[in-house]
Amino acid sequence: MDIYIDTANLDDIKEAASYGILDGVTTNPSLVAKEGVDFHDRLSEICEVVDGPVSAEVVSIEHDGMIAEAMELTKIAKNIVIKLPCITEGLKACKTLSDEGIKTNMTLCFQPLQALMVAKAGAFLVSPFLGRIDDIGGDGMELIQQIRQVYDNYGYQTKILSASIRHPLHMVQAAMIGSDVATVPLKVIQQFMKHPLTASGLEAFLADWDRAQAILKSNQPAMA
Ligand code: G3P
Repeated sequence: MDIYIDTANLDDIKEAASYGILDGVTTNPSLVAKEGVDFHDRLSEICEVVDGPVSAEVVSIEHDGMIAEAMELTKIAKNIVIKLPCITEGLKACKTLSDEGIKTNMTLCFQPLQALMVAKAGAFLVSPFLGRIDDIGGDGMELIQQIRQVYDNYGYQTKILSASIRHPLHMVQAAMIGSDVATVPLKVIQQFMKHPLTASGLEAFLADWDRAQAILKSNQPAMA
C-alpha cells in the first residue's frame, strides 16, 4: 500500500520522508492557502524532497481553464499529478490530459459512479474523501469498498487513493479493503507505530536490562 502525506507544509513532508515510507504528497487549495506561500514555488520545493507523485490541484472549473493550469503545473517537475474535481468539466479534462500521457488525481469523489466515470476517462488516481462522509453521518469506508469492487469487476487500473483519513482505524480498514494508496496528515501517520503495550513493554525490557547490569557490576571484584 502506498502512503502519501496530505499537506503543503514542507517541514511535515520532510519529517514523513525521514521515516523512509513516504510514496507521495497530496495538496489541495485549502492546504496551500494555510501555508501562505506561492503555490508553484512550494510545489517545486516539495518535488525536491519527494520523487513520487505530488498532486497539484487546479482552481478553474471549466475544461479549457483546467488544461491551461495543468500545462503550467506540469512544467514544475516530472512527478506532478494534476488534481481535478469530480465534475463533468473535470471528467473532460481528465480524458484530455490522460490522452496526452499526463497523470490525474480525481478529487472530491463521494459516490462510486464518479469513480467509474473517471476510471473510464483514464484517471491515474481517484480520491474518495471518506472522513467527510463519516462527518455527515455516512459510511465512508463503504464507498472505498464499492469502488474497489467496481474496479476489480472491470479491471480498471485507476488507483484508489483513500483521502480525508482522520485516524488509524480508517487506515487499517482502507488497507484491508485493498485501497491502493492512502493520503494521511502527519499527526495521523505518527500514530501508526504507536501502541501502549509497545511502550510499556519496551520500558520493562530496558528497566530489566539496567537492573541486570547493575547486579553484574556489583558482583565483580573491586580492582586493586
Ligand atoms: O486532500 C484531500 C483530503 O484528504 C482532505 O481531507 O481532512 O480536509 O477532509 P479533509
